[in-house]
Amino acid sequence: MRPLDLTLMYWKTTCRSCRASHARSWLIAASPLLVLSIVCASNVSTAEPKGRRQKPLVPLPNVVAAPKDNPTTPEKVLLGKQLFFDPRLSGNNTINCATCHLPDKAFTDGLAKPKGVGGKELTRNTPTLLNVGYFDKLFWDGRAKSLEEQVLGPIQSPDEMNQNLDELEKELNAVPGYVDQFQKVFGTEATRDGIAKALAAFQRTLVTGPSPFDRYLGGDEKALSYSAKRGLELFTGDADCVRCHRGPLLSDGKFYRLGASFGDAGLAATTSKKEDTGKFRTPSLRNVAQTGPYMHDGSMQTLGDVVAFYYRGVPTTTSDGLPLDIQPLFGQSFSEISDLVTFLESLTGEPPMITPPELP
Ligand code: HEC
Ligand code: HEC
Repeated sequence: MRPLDLTLMYWKTTCRSCRASHARSWLIAASPLLVLSIVCASNVSTAEPKGRRQKPLVPLPNVVAAPKDNPTTPEKVLLGKQLFFDPRLSGNNTINCATCHLPDKAFTDGLAKPKGVGGKELTRNTPTLLNVGYFDKLFWDGRAKSLEEQVLGPIQSPDEMNQNLDELEKELNAVPGYVDQFQKVFGTEATRDGIAKALAAFQRTLVTGPSPFDRYLGGDEKALSYSAKRGLELFTGDADCVRCHRGPLLSDGKFYRLGASFGDAGLAATTSKKEDTGKFRTPSLRNVAQTGPYMHDGSMQTLGDVVAFYYRGVPTTTSDGLPLDIQPLFGQSFSEISDLVTFLESLTGEPPMITPPELP
């Protein structure tokens, strides 16, 4: 008898044994005459992620909760806004936060990678600050646990704003307008703690309004086009994007290795664990149509490029043999990519109107 013809085939359908409605590889062991067995490869290799059956997609809440020791007040937000736009925060007084997080570019810069004060290119893409207050862990590798903790990073980083905090405090305390405001808001002179808290409070207000997708979730059937609805169906079904892109931000806030590019340690830089190499936080997809280029290294120009990446036959391991957290999708038609892109475009909500304030 001839040995079994073992053929690995990919089939896109609902898995009858695990009842998951998503694309999975099916292992078909066949003899020349007879299909002997069909095994859903997802049963063999991956467990159902926890919480999968919970409502994965929900509207964005209107307000970001503030920590107890830094309540959001209008005066603090105004102070934070001034600091955000103030070049005094950089070592040579030439750049401010808005140099890289531009309000009219959804608080990104439209570049693959930005340049800091010295003109040196940074290694990662500038993330949007829209809705950033909803994240528990910040940066592509999650190394900061709060906006208060995060903000002193770029100010001091030699490649970003290259500012010494003692000098910054001195500089701001020489400006009467700032001295008054810090007194009013914090009851102290300008301190690094107050600077961080005010900038954090300002960033918590950068919340977008309802997108067509939110209106659809709220019951407005007409808010999404036919193509966007098909995209949503793929997103939550066969393409299984919700495995990671879920919750109000369409991000689970966790870390994965997709293999978009190699060479950046990612999460491993914080944890020093080899298995975290090349893992990055799932980005928010809110207003994603406005935040390109994409991925931690800005290596993908358009949403079409990103979605095509998920459909492409990416390798299943890195060159170090670390497994990737995604398997290539096998679509039945090219329209799937454009439907997913149309859905992603429906996630754009009205950004807050922020114009540069007058500086003290
Ligand atoms: C030179 C460009 C540049 C400047 C100036 C800059 N940033 Fe950033 N920002 C970046 C880049 C690049 C990252 C991603 C870095 C990483 O993940 O390692 C980032 C990340 C962040 C994040 C994390 C976002 C997230 O989704 O986790 C916040 C918040 C942030 N910046 C706020 C600020 C504030 C506030 C200032 C001013 C004090 C500032 N940035 C100045 C480029 C810049
Ligand atoms: C295993 C978890 C996971 C799955 C499944 C997944 N993503 Fe992602 N997604 C990520 C991570 C992590 C990144 C960032 C990767 C990087 O920067 O290297 C990302 C990046 C993106 C980006 C770029 C966002 C930005 O701001 O740069 C888009 C768009 C996106 N994903 C859409 C999708 C779509 C559409 C699907 C389904 C076809 C999907 N994702 C499936 C985890 C996932």
